[in-house]
Amino acid sequence: MLVRRIIQVLMVVAAFAVTSGAQEQPKKSIQHVPMKGTSAASGKEMYISYCAVCHGTDGKGNGPAAEALKTPPSDLTMLSKNSDGKYPALKVGSAIRGDAAVAAHGSKDMPVWGHLFRTISGGHESQVDQRVANLISYIKTLQAQ
Ligand code: HEC
Repeated sequence: MLVRRIIQVLMVVAAFAVTSGAQEQPKKSIQHVPMKGTSAASGKEMYISYCAVCHGTDGKGNGPAAEALKTPPSDLTMLSKNSDGKYPALKVGSAIRGDAAVAAHGSKDMPVWGHLFRTISGGHESQVDQRVANLISYIKTLQAQ
């Protein structure tokens, strides 16, 4: 269905692609692909679909797209360790939503998920909140001991 395709193409998320010319070394670049639908109830499913490409399946920041970014993706397993052993849930939430205060200190390489989730949630702010909350909980399970 054409309409559905257009909507899918508008929902972009960073993905990884290798392009290689005949004489050139393979070059890595970020390609935007349609954002997959996921269950807002599963932090793990969202993490694997949206985050692992940069942060890695294990959260250590070595996903396939990492090399193509100017700013290396954060090691998400060290958030508690870097925060005196206390998981910084609020900070994680702000980073995911792309709140202005955090974005000012960061780079443009971390997608603004608050906006992307709003796009796929049809304006239902409660679903955006659920997605962010479940991602915060899932990332907590990745913390190094
Ligand atoms: C296109 C690559 C990319 C994708 C995809 C991505 N991130 Fe990030 N992320 C980054 C980069 C780069 C940073 C480093 C912060 C900065 O300077 O922008 C970051 C930072 C973060 C931080 C802040 C960590 C800290 O040290 O404070 C969190 C939390 C985070 N990402 C969570 C996520 C989650 C959850 C997803 C999936 C919904 C996601 N990221 C998807 C690139 C990405």
